[in-house]
Amino acid sequence: MNKLTFYLSMLCCCLMLTACSENTVTEQQATTASTTEPQGLKDAADFPLGTAVNLRLLQRDTQLRQQILANLNSITAENDMKMRSIAHSRDSFNFAPADRMLAFAETNNMRLFGHALIWHSSSPDWLPALAEDPVALDNFMREYIHAYVGRYKGKVDGWDVVNEVMNTAGGEYRETLWYKALGKDYVAKAFTYAHEADPDAVLFYNDFNIERDTAKLHGALRMIEELQAQGIPISGLGFQMHTRMDIPNDVIAYTLQKGAETGLQIHLSEVDIIFNKHDDTQGGGVQVYDEITPELLDQQKEKYKELVRMYRSIVPKTQQYGITFWGVSDRYTWINGFFNLKDKPTIFDEQHQPKPAYHGVMEGVMMEVE
Ligand code: G3I
Repeated sequence: MNKLTFYLSMLCCCLMLTACSENTVTEQQATTASTTEPQGLKDAADFPLGTAVNLRLLQRDTQLRQQILANLNSITAENDMKMRSIAHSRDSFNFAPADRMLAFAETNNMRLFGHALIWHSSSPDWLPALAEDPVALDNFMREYIHAYVGRYKGKVDGWDVVNEVMNTAGGEYRETLWYKALGKDYVAKAFTYAHEADPDAVLFYNDFNIERDTAKLHGALRMIEELQAQGIPISGLGFQMHTRMDIPNDVIAYTLQKGAETGLQIHLSEVDIIFNKHDDTQGGGVQVYDEITPELLDQQKEKYKELVRMYRSIVPKTQQYGITFWGVSDRYTWINGFFNLKDKPTIFDEQHQPKPAYHGVMEGVMMEVE
C-alpha cells in the first residue's frame, strides 16, 4: 500500500467513526474497526507493537481507539490493572477493570500485557499498616498474585511482576515498603508466586532510566544474575524507555546489548521521547524549548527510527517481546501533567494524527537490519 492509499484509508476510517457512540467499547465498534483498518505499524512489524492506555479513554475517545486498533496489536493498562485499582482491601479484589481490558484485547485480537503486580508507587492506602507485619505482607503478596495471575492464566501473556526495584539513580535497591518488610527476597518471592499461578506467562522485571544510567542498569543486571543463579523463574527484562532526545544512541545500544546478554525476553515497555528535561520527580520538569518546532519533530522522527532499528538489530529475534508506547497521543501523555512540562513525546499529535515520529517508527520497522 502506498502512502496516498494509506492516508485515504485513514480519512475514511475517521469519517466512519464519527457515527459511533462515544460512551462504550461495544463488540460492534470493535468489529467495525477491525474490518476497516488501514495497514498500520503492526502490519509492517515482525514483533508486537503496543501501547498503554486507560480504559476511560478507550471508551470515550473513538479516534484514539481507532488509531490504536489500526496500528497496534498489544495493549497494557496504563493504570487500571495496578494494585491500587484492583486490591480495594486485604481480601477484596475488584477485577472488573482487568476483565474489561481483557475483553477489549480478546475482541480485537490483541495481546494483553499485565502491568504491574508489585510496585511501591501503586500501593493501596491500607497496605502500609499491613506491611508492619512481614509475615502478613508476604501472605497477602502470595494470595494476591495467585488470585490475580491465576484468574488470567493463559490470557494475560506476560506481567511486570516487580516494577522499579532499583533506586531512581545508581544500582542499589529502593527502600520501599516491600523491601523494608521482606528484604530483597520479596523480588524472588513475587516471581515464584507468579510462576506458580501461570507457568507459561512471561515474567518481567521492569525499570526506568536503565537505558541511560549504566550504574542502575548494572545494579539491575546483578539482581537478575542472582535470581537466575537461584533458579527463580524470571523470563523478561523491561526497559521502560521514557527517554530523551539527548540520550546518546550508543549508550542506549550498549544497554540493550547488556540486557540481551541475559537471555531474557526484552520489552521496551513504556516508550516515549521528550525534548525537555526533568529531575525524575513530580513537577520537576525543566522547560528547555518554548516551542517544539517542525525541525525538532523531524529530529524526534530520527530518534524513534533509530530506537526501533537498534532494538531490531541488537536484540535477537527470539528475545524481542515487543515495543510498547506509554500512550500514543500527545493529547494524553502523562509527561506534561506529571512533570509540569509542555512536551510532545508520542507518535501522534494532539489531534491523534501521525507525527514525523510515527513515520520514524514505520521506517524503523520496515528497514533492512543486519
Ligand atoms: O483516577 C483519578 C481521578 O479520579 C482523580 O480525579 C485524579 C486527580 O489527580 O487522579 C486520577 O488518578 C490518576 C491516575 O494516573 C489516572 O489518571 C493519579 O492521580 C495519577 O497518579 C496516575 O498517574 C499514573 C502514574 O503511573 C501513577 O500510577 C500515570 O497516569 C501513569 O502514566 C504512570 O505510569 C507509570 C508506570 O505505571 C510505571 N513507570 C512509570 C510510568 C510513568 O510514571
